[in-house]
Amino acid sequence: MAVRAGTGRIRRVLVDVAKHSTASLKAMSTTFGPEVAYTDDRALVLEADSLEALRRIPDSSVSLILTDPPYHSTKKANIAGDRNFEEDELFLDWLGEYAVEWKRILKLSGTVYVFCASEMSARLETKIAESLRPINHIVWTKPNDPGFDGWRGKTKISALRQWYPHSERLLVFEHGTYGSREAYRRSPMGEYLLAARKRAGISMIELTEIIGAYGKVNRGGAVANWEAGRNIPSREQYEKLKAALEAYEAVGEMLSYEDLIRPMQLSREINYTDVWDFPSVRPFKGKHPAEKPLDMLKHIIQASTYPDDVVLDCFAGSGSSLRAALELGRSAIGIEIEPQWVQRSVDMAQSATRPVSETPGVEEAFVRPSPDSLF
Ligand SMILES: C[S@@+](CC[C@H](N)C(=O)[O-])C[C@H]1O[C@@H](n2cnc3c(N)ncnc32)[C@H](O)[C@@H]1O
Repeated sequence: MAVRAGTGRIRRVLVDVAKHSTASLKAMSTTFGPEVAYTDDRALVLEADSLEALRRIPDSSVSLILTDPPYHSTKKANIAGDRNFEEDELFLDWLGEYAVEWKRILKLSGTVYVFCASEMSARLETKIAESLRPINHIVWTKPNDPGFDGWRGKTKISALRQWYPHSERLLVFEHGTYGSREAYRRSPMGEYLLAARKRAGISMIELTEIIGAYGKVNRGGAVANWEAGRNIPSREQYEKLKAALEAYEAVGEMLSYEDLIRPMQLSREINYTDVWDFPSVRPFKGKHPAEKPLDMLKHIIQASTYPDDVVLDCFAGSGSSLRAALELGRSAIGIEIEPQWVQRSVDMAQSATRPVSETPGVEEAFVRPSPDSLF
């Protein structure tokens, strides 16, 4: 059932060729009213309940959702939402509603990263998997700098009834569903190619012959592997596929490589495992209680987006993910409910050292006046 639903959506995208990526965030900001705290061509900061705000963001318009909701199990008084739910199930249902919106606004090539406490991770992954396909369960070990072993100082060992939770989890998802049999593992890209080829009315072998991508084993070759989601075409191979399929009137304009193929840009120079050891943010005046290290956020954005992509954080806190995205030449949307952290997110968006050509002029930026400045 789930695969059929997915295929329907992919067919719709094939027809519509959603091109929201080219629309500036300033244009998107017109959907919102007084919630807009800051906007320029690359950044949009909203002060809002993010579930409400997400419902007004267009379909297939975001490449990366990188977000850090209240953990619920930590019950921190200084984080809005951390104590909102009496029962775990209510918290999970709440984030399940987010996942429905994430799926809708995420491009076919998009990725979702959700921070969570280890205690909630298994159930949260299962809940979000009702909308998206889990691809990783990253462990962030949070090593302390020498001389700053926070946990040693604050732990009463005799009171511990479990191992001290010194790591956090980062759940990663793409479009798709859980599945074991091959047919159910077909990737969004594979489904998209299959739908386009069917529209063209040609066989796998014919398409393979047109683009000359023969496999080692069978004549359907690479096309069969791509359609099954076993591997992905290179950019050059995709351009050939696109040109071949667009020649058929019934296919129409196809998505670009960036809008279809999920990036996973890794190199031997960086850690590409699922165990991460970025040091936690050291305390400083004005630090958000759950502030995430900039290096870790950049690690994610670098690997999982193309330049110019839109990154969204619907629990923006200090605005650290906005800063990371802007400094890497991406666009950023941050949504935060607490005025204090909205202001910090605005400051982050304004002060991020952006690649020179992308620094907006003053006349291009909108900053909502603070209430004090009205008098
Ligand atoms: C875990 S913190 C995020 C910290 C952030 N990653 C950082 O590096 O600073 C969660 C944030 O979500 C915000 N929040 C809670 N409920 C929200 C809601 N319904 N809509 C928007 N923001 C919300 C909280 O105020 C808090 O700042």
